[in-house]
Amino acid sequence: MVFSQSAILREEVEEAMSIQELIKKPLTSVPQRYIQLHNNEPSLLAGETFSHALPTINLKKLIHGEDIELELEKLTSACRDWGFFQLVEHGISSVVMKTLEDEVEGFFMLPMEEKMKYKVRPGDVEGYGTVIGSEDQKLDWGDRLFMKINPRSIRNPHLFPELPSSLRNILELYIEELQNLAMILMGLLGKTLKIEKRELEVFEDGIQNMRMTYYPPCPQPELVMGLSAHSDATGITILNQMNGVNGLQIKKDGVWIPVNVISEALVVNIGDIIEIMSNGAYKSVEHRATVNSEKERISVAMFFLPKFQSEIGPAVSLTNPEHPPLFKRIVVEEYIKDYFTHNKLNGKSYLEHMRITDDEKFTNASI
Ligand code: OGA
Ligand code: NI
Repeated sequence: MVFSQSAILREEVEEAMSIQELIKKPLTSVPQRYIQLHNNEPSLLAGETFSHALPTINLKKLIHGEDIELELEKLTSACRDWGFFQLVEHGISSVVMKTLEDEVEGFFMLPMEEKMKYKVRPGDVEGYGTVIGSEDQKLDWGDRLFMKINPRSIRNPHLFPELPSSLRNILELYIEELQNLAMILMGLLGKTLKIEKRELEVFEDGIQNMRMTYYPPCPQPELVMGLSAHSDATGITILNQMNGVNGLQIKKDGVWIPVNVISEALVVNIGDIIEIMSNGAYKSVEHRATVNSEKERISVAMFFLPKFQSEIGPAVSLTNPEHPPLFKRIVVEEYIKDYFTHNKLNGKSYLEHMRITDDEKFTNASI
């Protein structure tokens, strides 16, 4: 009796942790907990996207091309008008991309008992599954593994070091290559923003986090959300939509626009920290992930933040009496702590919390 009760309990816990487990039973309708009303917001249909396609940036041309100024101009307008771009010719080899895809898919195909070794532990934000804050919290339609990656000293001993070695090996390589790529991109962003080089040094060997997500197909995709609308509390994020399935949407001028996957391209987006550092010139745009009824979608998002002890705020080289700072200054460690206590993936609310309000402007002016 005791045994069977705990077996039932375990099943319920595992269902809450994993959509893959939930859909093992025939499911004609979506459980209430996953129903999120988001359909009342305007969104474009896939066929309508042509004139709204996300800008594509070619990294090779940006570094070695014939007209670097033109490419930099494209990068500037992508960051200013979209906050997002597709990155091609990024230098990550096809072999690495393919191996990573196979290994990440392999992880999500592991038996549930294996994946539960990595489950989110009480009070933690890292691990496999969803951080459940309250009983009535709506849940997203996706299975995730979130891990802190860099500096190495913050790697959680029961997560990254315990992953299957073939996955760990390719991740090590990918993590390092993306760290280099992120620094190249930061340098280019700094150039377009005219931020002094040393202000971007905070990102060198900075904090790097990673989220792998498996979005299973859903019988009623219009009722659920793979990942609720949010902006990223990062400097930049590099997203790999590895198995080529669409689902990402970004909010532009109040409308949700689907992003079409370009094979082997990476999607780069400006996070809240670059919006702050650029004093609002570059936008951290809200985005979300939808799901479909036919095919699973797999993604790996890599998040780049400055070092723990560094201070973030509008770049000194960009602010003056005509362009007063729009955001407060804060030490990264505090920023992250605050973020995780506010974190409900609630649109851009956390960035708004960093904004200097009119009242505060008045107070500052009167000091
Ligand atoms: C994220 C994110 C999008 C996706 O993890 O912050 O926006 O398609 N992911 O998985
Ligand atoms: Ni995101």
